[in-house]
Amino acid sequence: MSEQGTTTESQGNKYPPDPELAKTANARPEMLEQGLEEFWDEQAKQRLDWFEPYDKVLEWNIPHAKWFEGGKINACYNCVDRHAEGDKADKVALHVVPDDGPDSSQARDITYAELQRQVVRFANGLKKLGVGKGTGVGIYMQMIPEAVVAMLACARLGAPHTVVFGGFSGKAVAERCNDFEAKVLITQDEALRGGKVGSQKTNADDGLGNDTTVEKVVVVKRTGGDIPMTDRDVYLDDLLEGESDDPSSCPCEPMESEDLLFLLYTSGSTGKPKGVVHTTGGYLTGVTTTTNLVFDMKDDSVYWCAADIGWITGHSYITYGPLANGVTSVLYEGVPGYPDKDVWWKIIEKYGVTILYTSPTAIRSHMKWGEKYAQSADLSSIKILGSVGEPINPEVWEWYREHVGGGKAPIMDTWWQTETGHILITPLPGITTLKPGMAQQPFPGVRPEIRDDEGNVLGTEQTGNLVLTAPWPGMMRTLYKDDQRFRDTYWSKYSDAYFAGDGAKYDADGDIMLMGRIDDVVNVSGHRLSTFEVESALVEHEDVAEAAVASRKDPDTGQAIVAFVSLKGDTQGTEELEQALREQVAQSIGKLARPASVIFAPDLPKTRSGKIMRRLLKNLAEGEELGDTTTLVDPSVVEEMQKQMQQG
Ligand code: WTA
Repeated sequence: MSEQGTTTESQGNKYPPDPELAKTANARPEMLEQGLEEFWDEQAKQRLDWFEPYDKVLEWNIPHAKWFEGGKINACYNCVDRHAEGDKADKVALHVVPDDGPDSSQARDITYAELQRQVVRFANGLKKLGVGKGTGVGIYMQMIPEAVVAMLACARLGAPHTVVFGGFSGKAVAERCNDFEAKVLITQDEALRGGKVGSQKTNADDGLGNDTTVEKVVVVKRTGGDIPMTDRDVYLDDLLEGESDDPSSCPCEPMESEDLLFLLYTSGSTGKPKGVVHTTGGYLTGVTTTTNLVFDMKDDSVYWCAADIGWITGHSYITYGPLANGVTSVLYEGVPGYPDKDVWWKIIEKYGVTILYTSPTAIRSHMKWGEKYAQSADLSSIKILGSVGEPINPEVWEWYREHVGGGKAPIMDTWWQTETGHILITPLPGITTLKPGMAQQPFPGVRPEIRDDEGNVLGTEQTGNLVLTAPWPGMMRTLYKDDQRFRDTYWSKYSDAYFAGDGAKYDADGDIMLMGRIDDVVNVSGHRLSTFEVESALVEHEDVAEAAVASRKDPDTGQAIVAFVSLKGDTQGTEELEQALREQVAQSIGKLARPASVIFAPDLPKTRSGKIMRRLLKNLAEGEELGDTTTLVDPSVVEEMQKQMQQG
């Protein structure tokens, strides 16, 4: 059922909500009319168990918010214990799907009761290492259940965690753990992805060295591979030997609502990664409510978020949101194309997945392989689809709906950020008339605006800056040990609103369309990287004099990195050197940051004041018209680059 809309370029097909879904949907239109505090207060009371009730919903001293002050709560209690000790004890919490797919002999189910036992035992093990309320813990793992258990065990003890994406380098692990002053790092012996064994624990060793705050490294055995162990290291199995799994041996620590739940480092446009601070009561309210309403969670829902726990999506929509809702989830270790290109669809068929939440990049891969794989399995269980991390092209959206959603499942294109903690702009099931490629509407209790650089509020079809004019419960509280940077980055462009760093516009119906980042953040396959980080990695190479990084559109990964590099002395830009530089970035940051192309030039295009002209590099990378180059010191530099781009 689709109507053609023709009024503006951003409008194509429209899909009104299914009346049957509207009748039973958890999200109610009245919620959109509620006052902000009234809405969130109701959700916090209805959805969470508080050890002690809060006195106040919100205290707002711009830019610092305090939510649910006076309340005492524990995230692990809400995600695990209340279900394990109630009527969900025998309900499956996690369908664990290993790397070799759902038919693997290692596939298994973990019930809420079992999850509680595992978390308690893990927490007891951590306690033995001196971890308690306030102790920082690093987690550097792949998508195995122990990763989720580790996060929950930390939350149980009141020990804040910082998860470092398992594909990042050891250097990235060390930088984050040391900044956080983490005492313990939890990792696994080796990674297993797409049938390949990769190093994990030794990466961490290489990065941490001896000059680190980390005193103990806990190693989960995943492959059982032979890896070096030192006095600092302990296998999880040995640590847990003889530890009790009885919940009374390790009760959930009652935390203040505003106590730190976790830090998650993310890329900014300049400088080192930022430690985004998320606290307990507000964050839990935000993720629990959005999970429930956006994905229309029912008691019999089977939910699969195919993100990685190393990103905010994994924190909010694999661990905390779904488990707080007491839902059954799929936890998948592997990659989309292994053992075969139909593995995702086999997973959906085997477990009867009703909700799939993934990224446009993943859908683009499936689309490239062709619909025959999706058609080979029974996907009729699917009720709701979700998309996150980057703008979704309308044709990809249509493919997703047609071939995964059986031509009827509504797609929730959810806009949010590491900093926002949970979904803020999204359609709602049974309420929103969907438009492919648009996130569309603020979630209840969320107040966006689109402004120009001078602060004027923009109307229809004018692209401007997306801002949020009121606080929301899961919002970042500050940047770890750097409140000034928090103010400068998010709260200085406009004195009265949160500046998201994304461009956006309203269409004629008042629906929001996201237009991509407006700063130097690159989004490769939905992963955020800063041009600055990649440049720093490049100049670490001995032959590199200077480097500047831009991005271009890419049909598979959304954006791809183009590195412009000038070399020292007479060094020539050879193919070997290009490979070496790409490897250098992969080693320093992680494979996902590897530049798609490296362009060598005698110098970078600069103005007379010595500033690199980034706009020009962006145009070059995209293969666009260059416009005015007269302000350059040496315009021939650009001609040389253009020549190489055409060859390459
Ligand atoms: C982009 C991921 C368009 C955006 C949850 C944002 C999106 C950045 C969407 C945050 C969407 C996320 N449509 N763009 N639905 N969702 N983005 O911190 O540029 O990894 O600022 O959080 O991803 O990325 P992050």
